[in-house]
Amino acid sequence: MIGDTLSLSRVSAGYSAANPVLRDCTLTLKVGERLAIVGDNGSGKSTLLKVAAGLLKPLAGQVRFAYTEAPALLLQNPRQQLITNSVQEEIIFTLRARGLDSGEVGSACDTLLHRFGLEELRIRKPLTLSGGQQQRLALAALLAREPELVLLDEPESFLDGKSRAEFREFFFQHVSSASVLWTCCRDTEVPPGFRALRLENGSLVVMESKQVHV
Ligand SMILES: Nc1ncnc2c1ncn2[C@@H]1O[C@H](COP(=O)(O)OP(=O)(O)OP(=O)(O)O)[C@@H](O)[C@H]1O
Ligand SMILES: [Mg+2]
Repeated sequence: MIGDTLSLSRVSAGYSAANPVLRDCTLTLKVGERLAIVGDNGSGKSTLLKVAAGLLKPLAGQVRFAYTEAPALLLQNPRQQLITNSVQEEIIFTLRARGLDSGEVGSACDTLLHRFGLEELRIRKPLTLSGGQQQRLALAALLAREPELVLLDEPESFLDGKSRAEFREFFFQHVSSASVLWTCCRDTEVPPGFRALRLENGSLVVMESKQVHV
């Protein structure tokens, strides 16, 4: 267990005991490890992330969390997690929750806005941003918490090629030591350096590296 951020052992989960979405799923995420979960629409990717985030209790099996802070979950639709009236408020909200004092919050907010290329958008309402900008803001707000576990639910599904490249650049620049679970629909979308598991009929199947085209 030492050295693992998260482990699922023979987990079944879903929304009805009679027909679970996940069946007998086992996985271990080591500290700092990056794991992609690949699966078709409706295969249970978001359900798995809810279990990993502790938001959905398994119907059977065990989930062990070794992180001290709540995990950072980037929802499939970032609009659902942008809750304040401005880009900077979105970041400040998270920094305040970390217990920083107001001076520290101001400078940490400036640093994050600069790093994520959001300075010129700082007073914009989050819901008026483009999809790619919203994704970037949601990631910046999550990373402001300095999480040990980052859960990203199809983070690129709304992004075109250019925004996708930009999102990956921000991800690889700013997520260094955290453990990461990243879901996607196709093996071609698995980011470089990630191990991959496929969700098939509710079960996790190891994907050989030759199946992952990066
Ligand atoms: N709150 C819910 N109540 C009942 N059923 C649900 C709920 N959420 C998801 N489901 C069902 O669970 C199954 C798996 O859904 P889930 O959202 O985990 O799949 P997914 O792989 O994330 O799909 P997508 O790629 O479309 O996001 C689907 O059949 C879905 O209809
Ligand atoms: Mg989903």
